[in-house]
Amino acid sequence: MKLSRRVTETAPYLFHLIDEKRKAAQERGIDVISLAIGDPDMPTPDFVIDLMNEEMRDPRNHQYPSYKGESDFCELVAHWFKKRFGVNLDAQNEIMATIGSKDAVSHLPFVFIDPGDTALVTDPGYPAYEAAIGFAGGTPIRIPLLEERGFLPDLSSIPEDIADNAKFIFINYPNNPTAAVAEESFFEDLVAYAKKHDLVILADNAYSEVYFEPEDRPISIMQIPGAKDLSIEIHSFSKTFNMTGWRIGFVVSSKALIHSFLTLKSNFDSGVFMAIQRAAARALGHPNAPLFNEQRTQLFKKRRDIIAAALNDLGFRFGLPRASYYFWVRIPEMYSSSVVFCADLLEKQGLVVTPGVGYGPSGEAFFRISMTSPNEKIEKGMERLKNFMKGL
Ligand SMILES: Cc1ncc(COP(=O)(O)O)c(C=O)c1O
Repeated sequence: MKLSRRVTETAPYLFHLIDEKRKAAQERGIDVISLAIGDPDMPTPDFVIDLMNEEMRDPRNHQYPSYKGESDFCELVAHWFKKRFGVNLDAQNEIMATIGSKDAVSHLPFVFIDPGDTALVTDPGYPAYEAAIGFAGGTPIRIPLLEERGFLPDLSSIPEDIADNAKFIFINYPNNPTAAVAEESFFEDLVAYAKKHDLVILADNAYSEVYFEPEDRPISIMQIPGAKDLSIEIHSFSKTFNMTGWRIGFVVSSKALIHSFLTLKSNFDSGVFMAIQRAAARALGHPNAPLFNEQRTQLFKKRRDIIAAALNDLGFRFGLPRASYYFWVRIPEMYSSSVVFCADLLEKQGLVVTPGVGYGPSGEAFFRISMTSPNEKIEKGMERLKNFMKGL
């Protein structure tokens, strides 16, 4: 079969591989608990389902959607953006609906990359960034995220010529997998840096609504003066309203950049089911949304406490997550490979966590635990981790 190098030379997606390992272990009779994947265990809230039921009954929603997103979707998103971040957006020109944020993450590189180009990615980082740059014919250049810098990139460590030649930089705060958050000053420095080196910033803000304390409430890069002309911010409904399966997100940027993305995307897909767009956008301003968000925060705080207590008892090194769903934890010192540690944990205790190296070489000394499982399952998982550590 004459497959493309794009397919034959790209490693299968990290979570696909983890899923295969989990299935294989189950087939060998191991009782498996997975704390690996960042997919909320809680259902989409009823108020969003009710909105969807209404929209489904409206025959206007059954036809092809517009490529850019319905104008009422964009208006409602603009309204939310103003309320949430204090940023004014031109709804019809500066917002575009996407099929989840992964659609944006995986297709935006095609707007900038020609074969042979380079782009900067943080390491560790969401695996789709590097894959998409590669698919577009480019080469990702990794910028390490180090614990001692709060998992923020050290921009001054990037050689000038590398920055000058790169087309864009992918950043993601709140961060998957490190759970780091970035302050306004980081975004200010980044915007100044991008201006100096003529870089576009692709800012993945998929976890903007998943945080624990009011002082850690994530900001938008669009709050920084001058950011809009050189950045595209990527948003998702997946984490905001437990809507991972619905596939809806949006990007915000300047009219020119949105137009460029539209040129590409209108040739790739035909938009998002209008009922989903309308239900999602109406959910943003729904009176039940703040309560839902608060309940989710309380639930995740409880889970965070269960995991943090267990990890502390066992002497693991980790930072308490300030946002996102994840714990980013150092593997025990006797291990030098996160894959070997995770494989042993699965084999001996039937516990699945994610090896840090799956997010890039700088993740080799870490593993990721996701909080998106019911409390009892998390408790059971921590019990298994304890048993595993006892047996070392
Ligand atoms: C950092 C980050 N960006 C984007 C996504 C994709 O999310 P979705 O396509 O569901 O919006 C994820 C999913 O886990 C993620 O962790």
